[in-house]
Amino acid sequence: MKKVEDQILIIFGASGDLTKRKLIPALFELYKQNLLPKKFAVLGASRSTLSDDEFRSRADEFIPNDEKREEFKKLLFYQAVQNNEADDFIPLKERLDEISGSLEIEQNYVFYLSTPPSLYPVIPKMLCQNGLSKSENNFRRLIVEKPFGTDLKSAKTLNKQLLNYFEEEQIYRIDHYLGKETVQNMLVTRFSNGIFEPLWNRRYIERVEITSAESLGVEGRGGYYESSGALRDMLQNHLLQVAGFVAMEPPVVVEADAIRNETLKVFQSLRPIKENEVSRYVIRGQYTASTIGGKKVAGYREETGVDKLSRTETFVALKFFIDNWRWAGVPFYIRTGKKLPTRVTEIVIHFRKVPHHLFGNATSDSNNQLIIRIQPDEGILLKFGMKTPGAGFKVQTVNMDFHYSDLADKKVPAAYERLLLDCMQGDATLYSRGDAVEAAWEFVQPIINAWETNPEIPIYGYPAGSWGPEESANLIVNGDWRYPCKNLHNDGLYCEL
Ligand code: BG6
Repeated sequence: MKKVEDQILIIFGASGDLTKRKLIPALFELYKQNLLPKKFAVLGASRSTLSDDEFRSRADEFIPNDEKREEFKKLLFYQAVQNNEADDFIPLKERLDEISGSLEIEQNYVFYLSTPPSLYPVIPKMLCQNGLSKSENNFRRLIVEKPFGTDLKSAKTLNKQLLNYFEEEQIYRIDHYLGKETVQNMLVTRFSNGIFEPLWNRRYIERVEITSAESLGVEGRGGYYESSGALRDMLQNHLLQVAGFVAMEPPVVVEADAIRNETLKVFQSLRPIKENEVSRYVIRGQYTASTIGGKKVAGYREETGVDKLSRTETFVALKFFIDNWRWAGVPFYIRTGKKLPTRVTEIVIHFRKVPHHLFGNATSDSNNQLIIRIQPDEGILLKFGMKTPGAGFKVQTVNMDFHYSDLADKKVPAAYERLLLDCMQGDATLYSRGDAVEAAWEFVQPIINAWETNPEIPIYGYPAGSWGPEESANLIVNGDWRYPCKNLHNDGLYCEL
């Protein structure tokens, strides 16, 4: 493992949800595992006035009360920072000098933007104006949370703005899906196994399906979600990145640029969906009120912060092609939505059927599938045909599986643990590069345009707790989606309800 140099992590938006729910718990885990640098501090920053002690006691709610907690909390500091003009950052700079001086920490700084996106260009500018974005002897890095832009134009503008103050090598754009152990395992599954790699192409793969279902709704985030929707919230970033890992060519080496070059090539090969083709390739939906397990559940339009006539999609299903040598003609399907029957993210590789049907007709052959489960019940499942014992040759599909939980001595680390540690080590492999983010926006932009300008394109209602609009099944010509359950083995229409 690379050495983690002494440093200070500055979190802007320190009183926000992400800091409390994800960042502080991830740092605590790293601390417990002795993975943080020897000399290290976290400086929380936001507009609110808080003392160090108040900031520390807020952390109590989000980290378990074990023997290490008090020790860990000593690493936490807080500084109120306004962001109206450059001078507002002077107190921040002074505080950093003071902390690095008193704790003898090198002035290596990682700045984490966990603020409302409107501040993403503002804070880097002020850091730069105060001489904090560059240093001769120390590193300065900038982590930018999602959303990175709301469309192609705003993403390009943001990239340009950031590059005025920081170099590309200093910028770490978060996509927390890349921090998931199981997403990274995709690369190992593909590139360390002689048995899979020869099959990983148009000759043997009939289609690829990626499902990311959530059983929760918008949970009080209606205001944000109204301006986002499933396409921007999940598909443009997380799920296209996952598709990138499924589809990329082997990188030359396992290094940031080599891997990110291959992801970019996948995005550049996405066959553009023209605005007038959107309804053929994309289905959008919105959950409506229903009853789940005997309980009444509100529809999306009844959620707080949501317009009564909202046309924001809480479900999207997409069919697309990757026009390159490996994938020519293979359809890829992505589906994501809120208020679906269960919470599950998985990739299903559907292999082609045998060329000749020895045991009956096409339907009696096995549907070979490799299911890569991102969450929960993380693991891998291979489905293949076996002879049913007894007379004749009846084929039945059986399962062969691996579950991460079987590796009893290893806990699957949370995405933010891995990502924070990587940035502290200066490894950007699992962060998105500016050009790839733009390429992903370029692909989804015609969909956004068509939905905004063409009211004829339907937004289908689906009852909360169902698998989304039935129309999404029509996207797949010869087959259907897998309807997964929490447990990797099981599938079927409504197994969680
Ligand atoms: C976030 C989205 O980026 O990802 C949320 O904004 C979504 O709407 C979440 O719920 C899903 O992440 P995970 O890790 O729970 O699958």
